[in-house]
Amino acid sequence: MTATTKKARSLYVCNSCGAQSPKWSGRCADCGAWNSIEQVAMPPKTTPRPGGGGYAGAAGHASRADLGAIHRLAEIAPEQEVRTPSGIAELDRVLGGGLVQGSVVLIGGDPGIGKSTLLLQACAAIDANLAFASDKGSVLYVTGEESPQQVSLRAQRLGLKPGGLNLLAETCIEQILATTAAEAPRVLVIDSIQTLYTDALTSAPGSVSQVRETAAQLVRYAKLTDTTVFLVGHVTKEGALAGPRVLEHMVDTVLYFEGESGSAHRLVRAVKNRFGAVNELGVFAMTDRGLRQVSNPSAIFLSRHSEPAPGSIVLVTREGTRPMLVEVQALVDQSPLANPRRLAVGLEQNRLAMLLAVLHRHGGIAMFDQDVFTNVVGGVRVTETAADLAVLFAILSSFRDKALPMDLAVFGEVGLSGEIRPVPNGPDRLREAAKHGFKQAVVPKANVPKGGVGGLKIQPVLTLREAIDAV
Ligand code: TYD
Ligand code: MG
Repeated sequence: MTATTKKARSLYVCNSCGAQSPKWSGRCADCGAWNSIEQVAMPPKTTPRPGGGGYAGAAGHASRADLGAIHRLAEIAPEQEVRTPSGIAELDRVLGGGLVQGSVVLIGGDPGIGKSTLLLQACAAIDANLAFASDKGSVLYVTGEESPQQVSLRAQRLGLKPGGLNLLAETCIEQILATTAAEAPRVLVIDSIQTLYTDALTSAPGSVSQVRETAAQLVRYAKLTDTTVFLVGHVTKEGALAGPRVLEHMVDTVLYFEGESGSAHRLVRAVKNRFGAVNELGVFAMTDRGLRQVSNPSAIFLSRHSEPAPGSIVLVTREGTRPMLVEVQALVDQSPLANPRRLAVGLEQNRLAMLLAVLHRHGGIAMFDQDVFTNVVGGVRVTETAADLAVLFAILSSFRDKALPMDLAVFGEVGLSGEIRPVPNGPDRLREAAKHGFKQAVVPKANVPKGGVGGLKIQPVLTLREAIDAV
C-alpha cells in the first residue's frame, strides 16, 4: 500500500440528486439544482470493499461466496424467495405478497403522513405472526427520531400488543450493526435513514454521503444475513430531501405514501418492486387508532352525491393488480384570462392539453375561451391512460351542463387521431363495475368480452365521434 492511496480524498456531492464531481460548482450539472453541492471527505482507501467495490450484494441474493465467481445462468437453480405475511393484508399486497427474506424496502413520504405508524403496526403484527413459529423477539425497531417512551406511548394509543417487539434508540450505524449481529433479528426497521450516521464520515446525518453509506451498509447486512430491512425515508415525490434517488437504486422495493394530509385516506404505492407488481396500491384510512386497512377501496372513493351532477363520471382504473372505481370530476368555466387555465389534479397535466386538442380537432368542440379544471376525488393519483375517456366525458358533461347517468362507468385511451384504444384487463374492469351495481358502460370495442358481463349494458366505441354520440 503506498502513501498516496492512504491520503484522505475529498469529493463534491449534490445534496438533491447525489451526483458526484471532483470540483465544486454553484449548480449541479446532473439535476440542475442551485447551491446544492457540498464537500464531503471520503475515508482513505485502505481496505477493498467486499465483492470488489460497488454494491454487488444489492443486486439480489448474492452471498459472500457467490461474489466474484462466474456462473453459467443455465446452471444456477432458481431459488424461490421466502415470503412471510406481515399480517396487514394491504401492506402485503404492495410488497407483492408478504415480506421477502433478505430484501430491503424503502418507505418514503411526507413528514407526518404515517410511516412510523404503519411500521409500528406492521412490527406488532409480524411479531404476533412469528410468535407462532416460536420466533419471539425477532423484530427490532430502531428509532432515531423518537424516544422509546414516545414509541411506547404510540403503541399504547394504537392498542398494540407489544409482545416480543424489541426497541433500540440509536443512530450510529456501527452500534446498530453490532447490536443486530448479537440479536440476529429476522425483521429490522430503521426509522429513519436520515438520522443515521457512520463514524467513517464527517458530514452531518441526513446528507447524501451519510444516507448513501449507512444505507449501503444496511443493504449489505440484509443480503448477507437474509434479514428483511425496512428503511423509513423522509422523501417526497419531488425528492426534496437528501439522497432519495441514490436510495431508490440501492433497495429492492420502494413504497411511497400518497394522499392529501387533509384527507383521511392514505395510499401506499409500490413505485419499484423487484418482487412484485409495480404501481400496486395499498389503501388505508388514518383513524384515531392508527391506520385501518381499506379492503374495498371502490366503496370509499365513490361516496357521491345522491343527485346526478354535471361534470362527474366514474372511471374504472386499475392500479397494480386490482381494479378500482374512482370519480373523475371536471369544471369548465368561461375564462377571464387571455390564457385560460388548464388544471389537472391527480391526473397528467400534459394529457389534459392533448385531450382538449383531440376534442377540438376530431369532435369539433373548442374550449379556447374556457378554464378547464379536472380532479380525481379522494386524493387518488391515476397514472394510466385508461382515464382519457373519463376525463373527456367529465369535461363534455360540465361544458354542456348536462349530468351523465349515475350508473355509468367508463374507461379507455384516446388516441391522437380520435380513435378510442383498448386498455389492459378490460373484462376485469367491467366485472368490478358490475359488482358495484353499475348498469351501463362505455368502453373501447376491443375491451368487450365475448359473452358480455352480467347485469351491465356495454356500449363499445371505436372513435371519439361514437363516444360523444353514446352519451
Ligand atoms: P407518523 O407515523 O408519526 O408520521 P411519519 O412517521 O410519516 O412522520 O404519523 C403521525 C400522524 O398521524 C400525526 O399527524 C398524527 C396522526 N395519527 C393519527 O391520526 N392517529 C394515530 O393513531 C396516530 C398514531 C397518528
Ligand atoms: Mg416518523
